[in-house]
Amino acid sequence: MKISIIGTGYVGAVTGTCLAELGHQVIFVGRDQKKLDLINSGNSPIFEPGLEQLLRKNQERITTTTDLDDAIRKTELTFICVGTPSQDDGSIDLQQIRDVSITIGKSLGSDNYYHTIIVKSTVLPGTTETLILPLLERESEKKAFVDFGLASNPEFLKEGTAVDDFFRTDRVVIGVNDQKTNEILEKLYRPLNVPIFTTTIRTSELIKYASNAFLATKISFANEIGNLCKKMGIDSYEVFQGVGLDSRISPHFFRSGIGFGGSCFPKDVRALIAHARDLGIEPQVLDAVMRTNEDQPAQMLGLLKRHLDISGKTIGILGLSFKPDSDDIRESRAIPIIEALRKEGAIIIAFDPVSMDNFKQLFPDIRYAKTVYDVLHSDAILIVTEWKEFEDLDYRGKIVIDGRRISKAREEAAIYEGVCW
Ligand code: UDX
Repeated sequence: MKISIIGTGYVGAVTGTCLAELGHQVIFVGRDQKKLDLINSGNSPIFEPGLEQLLRKNQERITTTTDLDDAIRKTELTFICVGTPSQDDGSIDLQQIRDVSITIGKSLGSDNYYHTIIVKSTVLPGTTETLILPLLERESEKKAFVDFGLASNPEFLKEGTAVDDFFRTDRVVIGVNDQKTNEILEKLYRPLNVPIFTTTIRTSELIKYASNAFLATKISFANEIGNLCKKMGIDSYEVFQGVGLDSRISPHFFRSGIGFGGSCFPKDVRALIAHARDLGIEPQVLDAVMRTNEDQPAQMLGLLKRHLDISGKTIGILGLSFKPDSDDIRESRAIPIIEALRKEGAIIIAFDPVSMDNFKQLFPDIRYAKTVYDVLHSDAILIVTEWKEFEDLDYRGKIVIDGRRISKAREEAAIYEGVCW
C-alpha cells in the first residue's frame, strides 16, 4: 500500500519505518526539514535501538515531504502520528491534531480517490468522532465511512524496544465504525500474525489510556508495597516474584523503586484524571497513582540522609534518562531528585550514557562526568536509571542508594540502601 505518516516523532518514525519493512511505500510528512533530511540520508530522527538499520534497509520505499496535501494525493492511507502534549491542567493539547485534520480534509475535498485516515496519536476517547471527523467532513464536504475511511489504531510501543514491540506486539487494536475501514486495516496488519482486537473508535481510544493507566497503577502499587517492604526489611522484588506467579496478576511491571517517568505514563494518567473530572467522576485510584509516583523519589533522599549530611557533599548520579536504552529525559525521576539535592546544598556530578546533552538543557549548572568512573569518586552514589553498564562498576567501599536494583551495587557497596528492598 501507499502510506503517508504525519509526524516524525517517536510514534511516526517507528510506525512508518516498520510499515516500510512490511513492504509498503511510505511518505513521511513533517514540518522539521532537518528531521526529514536525516530520514532521507538513512539516519534515524530519534534515538531508538535498531531503527536506523531498518530505515537504511528500506530506503527505496521511504520518501519524505513537508507538503501534506501532496502526500495525501500520493497515498491510500494516512496515519496521524502528531504529538498531543500535556497542558498545565493535565488535559492534552489538540492543536496539532486540529491543524492536520483541517489540511487533510481540504486534500480529501479536492481528490476523487477513497482514502483512509488512521489516528495513531494518543487522544482521549471521543476525540476522533467529535473533533477529527467533523473537521474532515467540513473541509472535504464528504462523508466519513462513505467517501473516506476513518479509524483509531493506538500504539503500545515502549522506548528502547519499539521496533521489536511493533513486530511482536501482544495485540493490534483497531477502532472502526465501518466494515470497509476494518478490512483495510486487517489486511495491513495481517502479516504481523498477532491478535487483532477490533472494536469501536472511542473504545479503542480508551483502551490506550486504560492500558497505560493500569501499567502505571501496577508500578505505583509495587512502590507502595515496596515502601512497606523497606520498613519491614523484606525484599520487594522477591515479594512480586511470588505475587507475579499468579496468572491473574503476571510478573510484569512490578519493578519497584523510584517511580515511572517518560512521555507517556505521567501525561496519559494526568489526562485521564482531567477527563474523568470533566465528566464529574473523581478518579481516586488514578489520583493515588500519581501522588505515590510523585512522592517516591523523596524516599531516596530520606535514605541518603540516614548515612550522610548532604550539604556541601558531592553526590554522584548514575542515570538521567527516564529509562535505559533511551535518551529521553521527559519526566525522568532524576529531575525531582536533582532538584531536591540542590535545595539541600549538595554538589552534584551526574553521568548518563546518552542523555547528558538533553539533561544539560534543563540543568546547565550541575557537573557532568566525562566517564562513569568520575561519579564513583563521590561521597555517595544514587542509582536513578538501570543502564546495563552500571552492573560492571566497582562499588566496593561506596555509599550507594539504589532506586533501580543494580545487583552488583547491592553485593559490593560498603553502605547500600535499596529504595524498596
Ligand atoms: C510506555 C508503555 O509501556 C507503552 O506501552 C506505551 O506505548 C508508551 O508508554 P515507555 O514510557 O516507553 O512505554 O516505557 P516503559 O518501559 O513503559 O517505562 C515507563 C516508566 O516506568 C519508566 O520510567 C520505567 O523506569 C518505569 N517502570 C517500568 C518502573 O518503574 N517499573 C516497572 O516495572 C516498569
